[in-house]
Amino acid sequence: MSKTLIRGAKVLGGQALDVLIDGETVAAVGAGLDADGAQVVEADGQILLPGLVDLHTHLREPGREDSETVLTGTRAAAFGGYTAVHAMANTFPVADTAGVVEQVWRLGRESGYCDVQPVGAVTVGLEGKQLAELGAMHESAASVRVFSDDGKCVDDAVIMRRALEYVKAFDGVIAQHAQEPRLTEGAQMNEGTVSAELGLGGWPAVAEESIIARDVLLAAHVGSRLHICHLSTAGSVEIVRWAKSKGWNVTAEVTPHHLLLTDELVRSYDPVYKVNPPLRTEADVRALREALADGTIDCVATDHAPHPHEDKDCEWGAAAMGMVGLETALSVVQHTMVETGLLDWAGVADRMSFRPAAIGRLAGQGRPVSAGEPANLTLVDPAYRGTVDSARFASRSRNTPYQGRELPGRVTHTFLRGRATVMDGKLV
Ligand code: DOR
Ligand code: ZN
Repeated sequence: MSKTLIRGAKVLGGQALDVLIDGETVAAVGAGLDADGAQVVEADGQILLPGLVDLHTHLREPGREDSETVLTGTRAAAFGGYTAVHAMANTFPVADTAGVVEQVWRLGRESGYCDVQPVGAVTVGLEGKQLAELGAMHESAASVRVFSDDGKCVDDAVIMRRALEYVKAFDGVIAQHAQEPRLTEGAQMNEGTVSAELGLGGWPAVAEESIIARDVLLAAHVGSRLHICHLSTAGSVEIVRWAKSKGWNVTAEVTPHHLLLTDELVRSYDPVYKVNPPLRTEADVRALREALADGTIDCVATDHAPHPHEDKDCEWGAAAMGMVGLETALSVVQHTMVETGLLDWAGVADRMSFRPAAIGRLAGQGRPVSAGEPANLTLVDPAYRGTVDSARFASRSRNTPYQGRELPGRVTHTFLRGRATVMDGKLV
């Protein structure tokens, strides 16, 4: 069995320690550990985190392998420091049956770059009319617990109520893409002064907030578990804060791009900034950062949404919505949260590994860095400074809003159950 000694890494940003990996497991954590024939990784000045866990990844397989496959998406994930991702259900065919979720789960096992936990659709074909076979997906080999029609909102209150009731039986969770469809018909960007000036159809904050308000009340009424995808407005934060103060079982995520970018960027008409939910205002960004810092927002989720260039390099109105995110997420979080003093590295471990793994009820992921735990680990060099170059991405798609932008930090190593998937900044 192979052994690796990570020497002198700041564990969760704290004390510099050695970490010995033996086979698939963390064998010891301490000062001055004996290398004892192990391969040594010198990690002076680097931060050791639990392997990152993404609750919201679009892997596109089956059906849109021109944008991403399970293999390319999990390679991108490993490159970004992830050891597990939840694969969203808006594939072709939709992941609304035990057969499709098992297919995605199997492809994930074969990829070897990170664990893939399929998300099941809430409704048949994401059409919002009829519940999908939630029980069969849970009973399948994929053991689905997170269900989402992401990309579309479960807008029918009765369907949402039934879904929440159904998943209670097996401790599942409904992850809602909160977008009131009538209020966002023809919407192209955030509704506000910029949309008014540009003459683009506006996407009001209330379209998100009204669904979140309804759904926290429904979740409380049913006594079930609700997760809100990609919160984007200050008002959404207020509703989630209120729901949590009531003790309701509500969790929420924010994307890296909503922590950094604003609707001012849409003035460029560059569709790389077109995303759902849309980029909002500076005040929203501030509220989202504060909410992630104080725990109102539980976690960072990438909403990695790969699209081929022909779907993005076109005029604003025709372009697809979404940005890739797996390979830049940690750098954006370092930039927006750590270097602003809002979160320390232990906080990053919490928001990008412990909590998302707990929400997804993932076994063996999001575990403390201590002896006996599975060796799912990420080593980051926080002093690294470089510009984003999408030509180096492992993802099949290039639709990043950060091309050419300087962002701090770099994942130097990722270990999946003791095996290096990334070593010295390169995929293995
Ligand atoms: O921007 C987005 N892209 N938001 C979503 O909700 C779906 C995603 C996609 O699938 O491309
Ligand atoms: Zn979504």
